[in-house]
Amino acid sequence: MTSMLYPTTNPSASEQMIVSRGDGPYIYDRAGKRYLEGMAGLWCTSLGYGNEEIIEVATQQMRELSFSHMFGGKTHDSAMQLADKLASMVPLANARVFLGNSGSDANDTVVKLVRYHASATGRPDRVKIIARDKGYHGVSLASASLTGLPPNHAHFQLPFDALGIVRAGSPHYYRNANPGESEAEFVARRANELEAQILAEGPDTIAAMVAEPVSGAGGVLIPPAGHYPAIQAVLDRYGIALWDDEVICGFGRLGKDFGANAMDMKPDMMVFAKALSSAYVPVSAAVISGEFAEAIEGAASDMGVFGHGYTYSGHPLGCAVAHKVLEIYERDRIFEHAETVGAYLQSRLQEFASHPLVGEVSGMGMIGALELVANRAEKTPFEGMVVGAFCAKAAESAGLIVRPLGGNRVALCPPLIIEREHVDEIIDKLTIALNATLDFVTRENLLK
Ligand SMILES: Cc1ncc(COP(=O)(O)O)c(C=O)c1O
Repeated sequence: MTSMLYPTTNPSASEQMIVSRGDGPYIYDRAGKRYLEGMAGLWCTSLGYGNEEIIEVATQQMRELSFSHMFGGKTHDSAMQLADKLASMVPLANARVFLGNSGSDANDTVVKLVRYHASATGRPDRVKIIARDKGYHGVSLASASLTGLPPNHAHFQLPFDALGIVRAGSPHYYRNANPGESEAEFVARRANELEAQILAEGPDTIAAMVAEPVSGAGGVLIPPAGHYPAIQAVLDRYGIALWDDEVICGFGRLGKDFGANAMDMKPDMMVFAKALSSAYVPVSAAVISGEFAEAIEGAASDMGVFGHGYTYSGHPLGCAVAHKVLEIYERDRIFEHAETVGAYLQSRLQEFASHPLVGEVSGMGMIGALELVANRAEKTPFEGMVVGAFCAKAAESAGLIVRPLGGNRVALCPPLIIEREHVDEIIDKLTIALNATLDFVTRENLLK
């Protein structure tokens, strides 16, 4: 046991696994055992490990300019290049980019931009934010309040009311549909519920709705077809902005450039981190439409400074690396690759649909999850998180990293650079893990 206090870990737990190095889609532990990184770290190492081009750019940038801040309009080339590159890629007209270090801080930035915008447009009461059950948006006080997962709320007395959080239902059909309800009916019900919530709160008090195109940490929950157009129609009716959290779904994860394009969303603002730099260094971006930015800029001379920024906003290292990563995505057609190999991954994952432990196979592009259940016909959940955790441990023994999530879901989110043979390796190892888990639940009498 070292002096570490580990993040998102039971404080009484000690070291679980010591990772020593990475190479392509693989990591190695201290004993030299190799694992296929089926979770791309924490949904982030899209280009895998040890990419020499990125290492070279990082080294060069540190030699040239290791730090420069951005307060008061002081700037530098690598930040401006990154902002322009990102703005040219996103589906937002005349996009403007605010740089940070993590998904959590980028979402906090949007909370502040929304509030600043409300003041700038003379509607200071229009600050409430709709956020969904099972959504994950980070762990800072504001972003944890947007997050809709109880373990990230417990014991923290989060400022839900002060931030005006309005909690909407999750779009997870498998768990949230009423008996006999079709997907289309579920889509319509969620849209109607959203409208009822907006009317109950007062449409003029709500600024934005935040949503991940596909909720990752909530369990890889794929909304049914037509979900976002139905939601968007409601938001548009009341002039409520759609804030698209692309921290996992951005940059090819769903088999398209952005989750918004994969899921038919028309966002007003977008948030990026993780794959923005393929996690080589921490960097994030809150990106807003030109229209939203202009409303702020118009009033800014009367409002004084936008008093928000991090020492490391636009850190030269993060910017240089992210710019290179975006270039590689385009040059090597990584999004198209993710679409092709992702289609193969999804077809192979479907083989688990008939496994006696699997209630739902969900997935799209290069992300997926299996929900393990005690009774498939009844969708009976297992208690606690033991079964998913057992399965993830069994996968680890077989040399595959997957991630157990709440509700005994086991998630996969491999680096986008994997090939078909890596998909086969994932499926083989996951099969071993699932069968070991079936033996375990049978032995422990956990099936219902
Ligand atoms: C969708 C989403 N948004 C925000 C975050 C928070 O990012 P970070 O952990 O970099 O603060 C995450 C992290 O997993 C995420 O998945």
